[in-house]
Amino acid sequence: MDKFVIRGGNRLKGQVAIDGAKNAALPIMAAALLAEGPCDISRVPALADITAMSDLLGELGASVEHADGRMRIEVRDESNSHAQYERVRKMRASICVLGPLLAKRGQARVSMPGGCAIGARPVDLHLRGLRALGAQIELDNGDIVAKARRLRGTSLFLGGPFGSTVLGTANVMSAATLAEGRTVIESAACEPEIEDLADFLNAMGAKIRGAGTPRVTIDGVEKLAGCPHEVIPDRIEAGTFMVAAALTNGEVTLTNARLDHLMAVVDKLREIGVNVEPSAGGAVVSSARRLEPTDVTTQPYPGFPTDLQAQLMTLLCLADGNSVITEKIFPDRFMHVAELLRMGADIRKEGPTAIVTGVRRLIGAPVMASDLRASAALVLAGLVARGTTEILRVYHIDRGYERIEQRLNALGADIQRVSE
Ligand code: EPZ
Repeated sequence: MDKFVIRGGNRLKGQVAIDGAKNAALPIMAAALLAEGPCDISRVPALADITAMSDLLGELGASVEHADGRMRIEVRDESNSHAQYERVRKMRASICVLGPLLAKRGQARVSMPGGCAIGARPVDLHLRGLRALGAQIELDNGDIVAKARRLRGTSLFLGGPFGSTVLGTANVMSAATLAEGRTVIESAACEPEIEDLADFLNAMGAKIRGAGTPRVTIDGVEKLAGCPHEVIPDRIEAGTFMVAAALTNGEVTLTNARLDHLMAVVDKLREIGVNVEPSAGGAVVSSARRLEPTDVTTQPYPGFPTDLQAQLMTLLCLADGNSVITEKIFPDRFMHVAELLRMGADIRKEGPTAIVTGVRRLIGAPVMASDLRASAALVLAGLVARGTTEILRVYHIDRGYERIEQRLNALGADIQRVSE
């Protein structure tokens, strides 16, 4: 296993190009199972999660070629529709092959994904939505076994106790493209990644309206064809680099970043004193003073994204006062708190809320990565901590950020990847 050795204290300066969005690419790759003919997808990042999905699609009978950000997916053999536990447990997003397999092949066997470091991660809403479309769904030996001769369009409500579900919307919207008649999804997820998936499906010949809003209408068609598509920029990666610039009192220009996908984040950063100036194809982010504290609550899009909660917490550890962070999407998503405390942060957790009291500085220490975004928060902390920070189990980071240490070092950071 690799670890990062980070020497803190360098200001980040320069330009970074943001990759295509992992959380758009994954459901889009799964939706390629619906196509007759090849799909050519560009701006697909080289990440562990993308490789995991490519391997799964290979087992499901698709050929997947991926080089220099460009991916070609073509289904060759539809005889195996079983997504095994071995694969799904390593990458929960595998669940989004369920809807496409069911709609295209009339059957699917997908392992229940189980939980992860940020929470229980149930899929009850996915199953409720697919049952509403007429699928028979049973659980057998930890697998979801789904069957449907032909799905039938209907009006369905997809909201749950924590609001909308991103991958649940992806599964139901993808399945409805080949259903008979009209489907209306109420309380659909509004994330840009869902809009991007709908754009891809419509390019394949689907008839989807309203993606990106809480009500999505899908008129079923007989078949879908392969098509080209470019994946949207990764707003979470962009937000992570914005925090890195702010933390180190640097000045970083982001290119291939969609500020309109980050308005809640930009609003919060400006509120605490970070300069965010729109520029051609992205933004220039800088800060030159101690930051103000703030209160933030994670919400479904367009609210503040849960995937940037840990990174913002790192920033607020050095603000001039008390901040309150409330996690409404994954109430247990605080694995980064214990590690930040090891680095001298002052954070008190009360259920789904963390009270962060700003300190003068963080001190480098050996810390443990646990999940993708918590690990990113620890890298950010290491950039600004006094002395050296060692981050163990960086495979968590490689799942969602391509060559992050090389790209941060190109901006002036001092990070070494060391094989253990
Ligand atoms: C997607 O996960 C993202 N993953 C997550 O990013 C992101 O944190 C999450 O959406 C929320 O924005 C991908 O897109 C691959 P949800 P998803 O269904 O779809 C509850 C990252 O770091 N829920 O929107 O699995 C659930 O427990 C990852 O890139 C149910 O109760 O999340 C949670 O509290 C981490 N029943 C809330 O809804 C269900 O059937 C939102 O979950 C489904 C979800």
